[in-house]
Amino acid sequence: MSKARAYTNIALIKYWGKSDPLWNLPTTGSIGLTLDQLYTETSAKINDDLKQDYFMLNGQKTQNLKVMKVMNFLRDLTGDRHFVEIFSENHVPTAAGLASSASGFAALAMAASQAFGLSLDRKELSTIARLGSGSASRSVFGGFSIWHAGHDHDSSFAESILDPLNFDIRVIDILADKSTKKISSSQGMQLAQSAPNYAAWCSNSQKQIDDMLAAIANSDLEKIGLIAEKNALAMHELNRTAIQAFDYFTQNTRDIIAATKKLYNSGTLAFATIDAGPNVKVITNSENQSTVIETLKNYGEILVQKAGPGVTNV
Ligand code: PMV
Repeated sequence: MSKARAYTNIALIKYWGKSDPLWNLPTTGSIGLTLDQLYTETSAKINDDLKQDYFMLNGQKTQNLKVMKVMNFLRDLTGDRHFVEIFSENHVPTAAGLASSASGFAALAMAASQAFGLSLDRKELSTIARLGSGSASRSVFGGFSIWHAGHDHDSSFAESILDPLNFDIRVIDILADKSTKKISSSQGMQLAQSAPNYAAWCSNSQKQIDDMLAAIANSDLEKIGLIAEKNALAMHELNRTAIQAFDYFTQNTRDIIAATKKLYNSGTLAFATIDAGPNVKVITNSENQSTVIETLKNYGEILVQKAGPGVTNV
């Protein structure tokens, strides 16, 4: 049996659109930071008696098309037609609305490929994780990583930018809304691609990737935060201007963003980023963390995260 653990990651430059939904090829590259608190542990083992894969998630037998896609890919790759028993546990705070497919598919890529006897490098693992969930390609790596858009399965991989577990960055989750999202990320990005500014968002994103890489290389937290905030807010603006417009924000989301901007304008390093849901994450550093928490704790439950490690065997 092989068992792997992977952590969630937050996108600083977002993936928000597919050029090929079947292979999960993105319209743009993206940059993420793997975090250190929320993780998935997954074990996988070939079982000769199975007629199909057996997938248990948090103790419940689950049918998951994305898991099947990853397993079928591995069977095609190895020529081994066996089925696999997979046990997966998400270690997230109770009902936090934070369950992430990123940690799940990064852990599955490692555990399941090993169950088939493969010993893949991280780049290859990132392509397999990507088949389940695009953002999972980045959770294969610790610290900062970039997922290159590519044009086919092999060229759409992630790689490490910098894996410094001591980089002074904090990501503060403010968990205000614990309900599950109404529009999945796949649905959301498909709708967003009809926004009139979608092409402009993509080309801007490429420039922001270059600026973000420079900011990370210079350990410039203020630049990292400013670029990440701009990129995230523009992503959500696409949703509001799509032909079938929608919005993940709630009043609480808007209030937290406003409070974060106020903090920044009064000299605290604090920058908002938001994924496919209403919860805001604030990027800051160790020095500014307590001011941020003091100001935002009334809006929801606080979770502080640092840079975390890449996928490993456990
Ligand atoms: O990996 P998915 O399909 O869950 O999509 C992730 C989308 C965002 O979280 C909004 C952005 C990102 O790059 O992680």
